[in-house]
Amino acid sequence: MVTPSQGDAGKGARPASAGRAPAAPPSSSADTADPDGQPLLQLRGIGKRFGPVQALTDIDLDVPAGQVTALVGDNGAGKSTLVKCIAGIWEPSAGEIIWNGKRIHLHSPRDASALGIATVYQDLALADNLDIVQNMQLGHEPLRYGLLDEITMEKTAKATLADLAVTTVRSVRQLVGSLSGGQRQAVAVAKAVMQDAKLVIMDEPTAALGVSQTEQVLSLITRLAGRGLGVLVISHNLADVFRVADRIAVLYLGRLAAVGPAAEFDPQSAVDLMTTGATSRQVNGTGENMTLRGSSSGSEG
Ligand SMILES: Nc1ncnc2c1ncn2[C@@H]1O[C@H](COP(=O)(O)OP(=O)(O)O)[C@@H](O)[C@H]1O
Ligand SMILES: [Mg+2]
Repeated sequence: MVTPSQGDAGKGARPASAGRAPAAPPSSSADTADPDGQPLLQLRGIGKRFGPVQALTDIDLDVPAGQVTALVGDNGAGKSTLVKCIAGIWEPSAGEIIWNGKRIHLHSPRDASALGIATVYQDLALADNLDIVQNMQLGHEPLRYGLLDEITMEKTAKATLADLAVTTVRSVRQLVGSLSGGQRQAVAVAKAVMQDAKLVIMDEPTAALGVSQTEQVLSLITRLAGRGLGVLVISHNLADVFRVADRIAVLYLGRLAAVGPAAEFDPQSAVDLMTTGATSRQVNGTGENMTLRGSSSGSEG
C-alpha cells in the first residue's frame, strides 16, 4: 500500500513534486507536453473553508491525462467544492494546484478555461435560445471579413460531434432548448473539446438522465479519455463509476478517504469508504496502489 506521503499516482515510483514548482500565473499556452510522465493536474494539500465550515481538508489528488478519474462521495462530502476550486470558482484556503508541473493560481473560471480546464455542470451553461452551432462557438466565434463565419462554425461543430460519435443529434441547427438531457451533455462536452480543453470535469453528468442517455454520456466520457484528455467525473452512482473509471477517489467529510486504480475497489469497499471513510476489505490482491487515508490508514503491515 502506498503511504499518503508517497502521493497517489498509482503507477509506482514517482517523486513527490509538492513545493518543487515555483509560483506562476496562469498562462494560456496550454501545452500538453508531459515530459516526466507527470499527471496533468496535481492537487496538494487543498483545503477550503466557508466560515465555520471546513468543506475540504488536505486533499492530495492526481488527475492524469488519457484516463477517467472518478470522484465519489456522499452528499456534502465536498465533491462540488473541490471541482469549483479546480474550475476557478473558489480559491482554496490552503494547498497548491499544479498544472502540467507548474503551480497555478486560478482567480476566475476564465483562468481555468484559458489553461484548458473545462467544467460541465449539472445545470449546463448552454443558451436554450441558440442552436447547437451557436452554443458550441459561444465566445469563440470565428470572424471572416469582420462577419461571423457561419460556414466554418457549422463545419467545425459537425466535425467535432462526429469525432465524438455523437449521432443522436438530428440537426446542428436545432435549438439547444429542444434537446434531451443527454444531448445537452454531449453538446456541452463537444463545446469543451472544440475549445481545446485538456481536462474535462463533469459534475454528476448522468444524474438527470434516462437509461439510453446515460449510456451515451458514459461512452462519451470513455471516448474523451481515449483522445488523451484528462476526465474527472463526479458521481454518486457507483454503477456508472465502475463502468468508466480508470481511477477512483473517495471523499468523506471533506477528506480523501482513498484513491487508487478502479480495479482495486469493489462496490462494497467503495460504499464502505463513502459512508464511513474506511473499509476493512482488501480487494483484488494487495491493493498496493491504493492509498487509504481513513481510520484504517496505516493498519496494514
Ligand atoms: N458556498 C458555501 N458556503 C458554505 N458552505 C458551503 C458552501 N458550499 C458548500 N458548502 C458546504 O461544504 C460541504 C461540502 O459541500 P459540497 O461540496 O456541495 O458537497 P457534495 O458536492 O459532495 O455534495 C457541505 O457541508 C456544504 O454545506
Ligand atoms: Mg455536489
